[in-house]
Amino acid sequence: MPLMTTRPMFDLAYEGGFGIGAFNVNNMEITQGIIEACAEENSPCILQISKGARKYANIRFLKKIIDACVEEYPQIPIAIHCDHGDTIELMKDCIADGYTSVMIDGSHHEFDENVRLSKETVELAHAAGVVVEAELGQLGGIEEDVVGLSAEEYEKSIEKFLTDPDHAKEFWQQSGIDSLAVAIGTSHGAYKFTKEAKLAFDRIERIMKTCPGLPLVMHGSSSVPQEYIDLVNKYGGNMPNAKGVPEDQIANAVRTYGVCKVNIDTDLRLAMTAKIREVYATKPEEFDPRKYLGPARDEIKTMVKRKLHMLNSAGKTDEIIAYWKKQGEPLPTFYK
Ligand code: G3H
Ligand code: 13P
Ligand code: ZN
Repeated sequence: MPLMTTRPMFDLAYEGGFGIGAFNVNNMEITQGIIEACAEENSPCILQISKGARKYANIRFLKKIIDACVEEYPQIPIAIHCDHGDTIELMKDCIADGYTSVMIDGSHHEFDENVRLSKETVELAHAAGVVVEAELGQLGGIEEDVVGLSAEEYEKSIEKFLTDPDHAKEFWQQSGIDSLAVAIGTSHGAYKFTKEAKLAFDRIERIMKTCPGLPLVMHGSSSVPQEYIDLVNKYGGNMPNAKGVPEDQIANAVRTYGVCKVNIDTDLRLAMTAKIREVYATKPEEFDPRKYLGPARDEIKTMVKRKLHMLNSAGKTDEIIAYWKKQGEPLPTFYK
């Protein structure tokens, strides 16, 4: 049952210069597309659940779907992660629900309050064998339940939003977190840049130097492939000027700068939407949901495979399971 925390994955990813894809799940087809891709590519993955997803799908249903993945694919290292949790109550719920990893996102608070929230989460989570991600700095982009800024606002004053390397060290020391989400020029959603799409590599290099050994997390890491935007627009969508993070820059961050977790949601949404729109437009007589949700699930699988190769995590399952067994990582309380 390789349901694990992210710790064994990150230990090997940090040393080996590869990344673990953290994919947002909202329903059965998305989850199946992800896990089928991982199974075919022998890749570990993090299945992450946002507050919005908990609400939309009802966590009882979503959790059972993920449990089914763990049962169906015992050879795949899987972590269940809370994405952008914002309260201690939610942290407690997620730990009680059997997540193996939680994110407490206090990035919109003052530094001291962010430390306080993160430290409290660490105390609760570690006592239950669960690991903690926190965030310092501010991302752009506007999402349903995530605080953000438009691409224009973000680009205008980018320096002040990026993670400060010295603050990162202090934050890590004071909170005791297991991984840190950093602001290095990415944003949530499909409209990340109005100008040149470019990550702040100098910044991430400095963070890596002030925080050696700390696994870094990149949110807002969808690449918004133009061919998917073209498909969406061709079949009646309206997504002008969508722009993501170039895949070679993500691969570089993972290979060189201690980025162990790469969050991807928008590209899954795009894959699903493009396919459903295509079926609707080319087969207007079709009304069986399986005939459009099935192809959408296949498209998610194709997209996730592309990501696993970009992150160089394909083929890493055996290595991670062997290391996990050797480490003897205790299972989170929920699974004992
Ligand atoms: O970073 C946010 C994720 O894309 C989740 O988005 O809150 O709309 O589920 P959501
Ligand atoms: P994208 O919107 O770039 O997919 O980012 C998702 C994310 O960061 C989830 O936490
Ligand atoms: Zn995010």
